Amino acid sequence: MCGIVGYVGKNPVLDILLDGLEQLEYRGYDSSGIAVKCKDNINVYKAVGKLKNLREELTPHAYEISKSTSGIGHIRWATHGAPTVVNAHPHTCNCGNLVVVHNGIIENYVQLKAKLEARGCVFRSQTDTETVAHLIALKYGETKDLTKAVALATKEVEGAYALEVMHNDEPDKLVITKRNAPLIIGIGEDGYYAASDIPAFIKHTNKAIYLSDNQIATLTPQSLKIQDENGAEITPKIEQLPWEPVALSKMGYKHYMLKEIHEQPDVIRNILVGKLHTSDSPVKLDEVKLTKENLKDLTRIQVIACGTSLHAAMIGKYLIEDLCSIPVDVEASSEYIYRKTVTDSKTLVIGVSQSGETADTLTAIKQAKEKGSHILIITNRPDSAMAREADSLLSVNAGIEVSVAATKSYIAQLTSFYLLALYMAEIKGTTPADVLKKLKSEMLILPQKIEQILANKEHIQKCARKYSSTRDFIYIARGINYPTALEGALKLKEISYINATGYPAGELKHGPIAMLDEIMPVLSILMKGSVYEKILSNSEEARARNAQMIALTNSDDSKLENLFDFIIHVPDVDEMLSPILAIVPLQLIAYYIAEFLGKDVDQPRNLAKSVTVE
Ligand code: G6P
Repeated sequence: MCGIVGYVGKNPVLDILLDGLEQLEYRGYDSSGIAVKCKDNINVYKAVGKLKNLREELTPHAYEISKSTSGIGHIRWATHGAPTVVNAHPHTCNCGNLVVVHNGIIENYVQLKAKLEARGCVFRSQTDTETVAHLIALKYGETKDLTKAVALATKEVEGAYALEVMHNDEPDKLVITKRNAPLIIGIGEDGYYAASDIPAFIKHTNKAIYLSDNQIATLTPQSLKIQDENGAEITPKIEQLPWEPVALSKMGYKHYMLKEIHEQPDVIRNILVGKLHTSDSPVKLDEVKLTKENLKDLTRIQVIACGTSLHAAMIGKYLIEDLCSIPVDVEASSEYIYRKTVTDSKTLVIGVSQSGETADTLTAIKQAKEKGSHILIITNRPDSAMAREADSLLSVNAGIEVSVAATKSYIAQLTSFYLLALYMAEIKGTTPADVLKKLKSEMLILPQKIEQILANKEHIQKCARKYSSTRDFIYIARGINYPTALEGALKLKEISYINATGYPAGELKHGPIAMLDEIMPVLSILMKGSVYEKILSNSEEARARNAQMIALTNSDDSKLENLFDFIIHVPDVDEMLSPILAIVPLQLIAYYIAEFLGKDVDQPRNLAKSVTVE
């Protein structure tokens, strides 16, 4: 899961590549590199670490590159081989005339490497990608045509790839191809762009072509030719992207994460438009293509997801089981793939993914599809690979999320699950109308309630400061907020590297309580409702072991003052909807702790936003 970008045209290429890579940093950021066509050669420049290191590396070469108008770039999240300069892309053939950037994994690289070494290729890196550079170069030697060489070489390659290739003997030509990895062509006024994702070129053009698997595109400053794997020319479908470059700015916030947390009220409002008008009207979800009969025939639902999306899925289980009386299983996609699952045509399989690209979830979805299940995808990217597998597509419309730690996409996924559960409950008639009406009327005012929490953020910031030196953090909750505890802990782990864990509060006494002492913070998510008193008792148990106690609550119960060292209040809300409010202070606690600790909030170490490897 790396990011690639390329350009051929009339404009200077350097800034196009570097700005493009900056927008793709969410895909990985342990090393980067570019190759640009200079006067006589294609020059390659690489650096380890963040993109700013590559910018520094390029400073002394700025003049020689300034006239270049074609090139390719790569930003890496290491899979094969450590993040070093040698392993950074672009990779080259023996003589350096051919350069390649690659996103994905070449699965048969060991076999290919042995064959290529036998033919005299000398490998310098530990990457799988270098095999492709040598392989295409050998084919180029036979054909003297870069497009044909790429076509022949990729027939021998197994695995996933998006490739961009240039050759010194065919200046100003960029050949690109893909299989099971995203690659999009941007059509500009002064040239063509090719990238793993739209943000890389959206500031130059909003006209794009989504390349399909095994298609090969040949780009020059004046021409674009796309052919299928048999060499037949294809007339591409040019799409108008509904994207605004402004979505990629921090809008005055210090970090994207803080900006995205503040966008959450509007994210909910946007989702509700056209789907939930008033508490009296039924939820409208035309995107769900299951008929009333299909819905009634369902015997179970399986929800598959990873990371933050998995936590949204867990809340979805509570909602659907409660409101629709259908059994729901939730499973991490990586666990679903490698076991015998009871999935059939009476199972609705829901895939949840911000990016719509996560390899584990994509594979799981494909497996479920083969078993005849209806596939419903909840994603922030209606243009993604997962969306293309969907029988029903619920697009969450959170807008581009740049920070690696997911926040607004989580709120958007939750909102979509509420709508879905309400919609199915209305069709199936499994919940009394007055209960549904109350939930709908409360949903409509959730955005204002989140705004109240955000207006109170200084208090949350104080809490974060107070506990920012802790090495461990425990979050406890029960019922529908147990996944909120998991998500709050995940946020803290991801961006502050503090060892944070979420537990069902009732489980505390079955082991974790042994860890409690006077320096361990325990945050109780204490929302009024069916399990309030139970969590209160579990909090008493923790207090009795002298833990530092924090309450996140919508209660004004005076008992809390004695029990807790710090209390964060959220507006009153129905228990069933409380996860949408409860997560916001937890996102802010994680954010402010990471900020106090001086961590790289938007690009935490070792992580990437889009994980396209299993
Ligand atoms: C990565 C990201 C997480 C995300 C997970 C699933 O690990 O760092 O923030 O929750 O992938 O991604 P998805 O795009 O499928 O929601």
